[in-house]
Order: sequence, then C-alpha cells, then structure tokens
Amino acid sequence: MQALTRKRTTRRALLVGAGLAAVGGGGLIALRAAARSAYAAAEETVWTPPALRPERPDALRTTLVHYATLAANGHNTQPWRFRLEAEGIRIGPDPARRTPVVDPDDHHVFASLGAAAENLAIAAGRFGLAAEVAPGADGVFVALSEAGTAPGSSPLFAAVTERRCVRLDYDGAQLSAADWNAISAAGTLPGVDVAIHTSTADRNALAALVVAGNTAQMGDPAFVAELKHWIRFDGSHAARTLDGLYAAASGNPEVPAWLGARLFDYAFTVESENARYRRQMETSAGVAVVLAETDARAGWIQAGRAAQRMALEATARGIRSAFLNQPTEALGVRPDLMAFLKTSRRPNLVMRFGRGPLPPRSLRRPPEAVIDA
Ligand SMILES: Cc1cc2nc3c(=O)[nH]c(=O)nc-3n(C[C@H](O)[C@H](O)[C@H](O)COP(=O)(O)O)c2cc1C
Repeated sequence: MQALTRKRTTRRALLVGAGLAAVGGGGLIALRAAARSAYAAAEETVWTPPALRPERPDALRTTLVHYATLAANGHNTQPWRFRLEAEGIRIGPDPARRTPVVDPDDHHVFASLGAAAENLAIAAGRFGLAAEVAPGADGVFVALSEAGTAPGSSPLFAAVTERRCVRLDYDGAQLSAADWNAISAAGTLPGVDVAIHTSTADRNALAALVVAGNTAQMGDPAFVAELKHWIRFDGSHAARTLDGLYAAASGNPEVPAWLGARLFDYAFTVESENARYRRQMETSAGVAVVLAETDARAGWIQAGRAAQRMALEATARGIRSAFLNQPTEALGVRPDLMAFLKTSRRPNLVMRFGRGPLPPRSLRRPPEAVIDA
C-alpha cells in the first residue's frame, strides 16, 4: 500500500514538474502577474458598490442587493436568488448552487441567506430605510419602509465592504473583554445564543474536534471532489466565474488552474490540513459557537445572521474571523461537539477570531445575475 502511494505520488510530482517545465519560469511569472491583476480589478468592482443612480428604476434596491451579496456564504457558491417586491426584498435559495456533500440538508444554504439578509438590513439603514428581517421555511423576507431618520453610515455598514474570512494564522494575542462582549452582543439575536471559548484548554479541545471533523471529511472522496470543484486556483479563473474559493486568499500560491488542480491532488493531505487547523486554532484568541434554538430553516437563517453580525463587529474593531465548521458538519463528530458544549441543541456555526494579516477579498456575481425578474 505504501509503495503504491509512493508510486502515485512520484507520478504526480512528475506531472507537476513536467507542467512547470512546459510553461517555463518566465512564462509562469507573467501568467501569475496577469492573473493577479485580473483578480485585483474584479475585487475592486465587486467591493465598491456604485453610487446610487436615481435615474435607474430600482436603483436603490439593486444597490441593497449588491451589499447583500457581499455576505459570507458556504464555499462562496452564492446560493441565493433575490426578488424585488413592493414591500421589500425576498431572498430564496438557488438549488443550482447547493453543496450536497458538505451540506446535505441545506443548513449552510439557509445560513448564507441569513447572512445576506443581515447585510441588506444594515445597508438599508445607510439609505434611510427601516428594515425588518423575517426568516421562514422558504427563505427570508426583508421588509423595507421609510425610517423617518436621516440616512447615515454606521460602523457595521462601513465593515460590510471590508469583511472577509481570514483563513490564515493569527498573531496569538488575546482580545480584550470589551472586544469579546461586543462580538458576543452582536451575535445574540432572538432565537440564537453565542458561546465564546477563549481558554487554552477549550481551544485545544475545539481544535481536536475540528481535526476529527476534517479527518472524516477528507476521507470521503465526494467531499474532496466537491471542495476542489469550488476552488479557483488562479485569479483569472476566479475573475471569470466571480464565485468560488480563491486559493491565494487562503495563503496558497497563485498558479494556473491546470497546475493548481494537480498540486491540490499532491499537497492537499489530511496531515497537512490538520496541522494547518491546529496552528490556526493555536494562534486565534478564541472561538464562538452559534447555537439556534430551533433546528429548522428559520433557525439556520438566524444563525447565519448572527455569524455575519459577529464578523462585521470584529471587522469594525480590526479583528479577523474565519469559520471552522468541520465538527458541525461531520455527523460522527457533531455529538462530541455537543457534549463539549454541554448542549442538546445542534451547533450551527463555529468561528475563530483574532488579529492577523489581511488577504484579498473573494469575488461575487453582480446583482443582475442574482435578481429574478
Ligand atoms: C454557512 C457558512 C458556512 C461556512 N463554512 C466554512 C468552513 O467550514 N470553512 C471555511 O473556511 N469557511 C467557511 N465559510 C466561509 C465561506 O467560505 C466564505 O464566506 C466565502 O468563501 C466567501 O468569502 P468571504 O466570506 O471572505 O467573503 C462558511 C460560510 C458560511 C456562511
């Protein structure tokens, strides 16, 4: 078995080596530079929603949808459809953008709709509208009305265009009690609780659960294939699809897509990923677990809203965050997470927080691509 593995590895290494030789060092550098600049241009467009153009019908609501799409969402599939209605904006799932292996019951799809609804509601306040978020079994409706208050920015609104998941090591420093209180308060919504864990013992216990979840998931070829399908190994590819997980944003090298796919097969191992997760947990200041009261779509939407609010509050304070949901997703590990949390509820989302570097933001499809006529 070992010999077989070595043989396969050698073949892969040869393939990669041959590929590199074919492209040539200079050619590779030029390709990387072109991919990076295509990505940077797309990032600028996505994360700078245009100023309102009142002459356009639905200009304001289209702008609100733009802000909504900047929310966190599973694998960056952007699993949402928006409908502009007289009383507000309806956000429903896009079945074509499910991730059935990692998320068979669509928990993450509906949590992503909640995150988008939260961004939309926060952006509405910027334009002087009051927003009421109503989660349901089919999705979430954001009712919009005149607020009777002056339009104005807020720290959370300013954070909407700065937030991103930072899947890198943090600096290992603690956060202040004031920071944790603010993050926890931001995530506490009707029907949702947040449990914060900052001690070394708790972070070690949670790291072990993340590693157990990751080990189970990476042992499933369907999980790995689904993940690989959504990875964008080069910036030009990401700029064409405007979705997916940009490899360089997670600290991986920018390489042509064909080469990235081969490197992924070669370098993406259980050992390397588990070591990365242990390091990430060690260098984080703490972990928040989101727990909704009800294990149904409305509860999952509320959990997504809570996660988005915590990430925005953290961003406003210069604090990074990222998800580590493996122990909620791997069904064999979830009961151990519940035992650790001493809860009978299904844990919805696991997020780590800390201070650290700032990678590029991931891309989004424009409002026109996600609004139904
Ligand atoms: C419900 C949900 C589940 C997620 N699960 C994970 C996860 O387990 N691991 C991870 O690294 N990111 C996870 N993410 C983060 C998304 O991959 C990320 O939001 C998406 O790629 C867009 O990138 P951005 O948040 O940096 O804009 C999750 C996000 C949501 C909303």
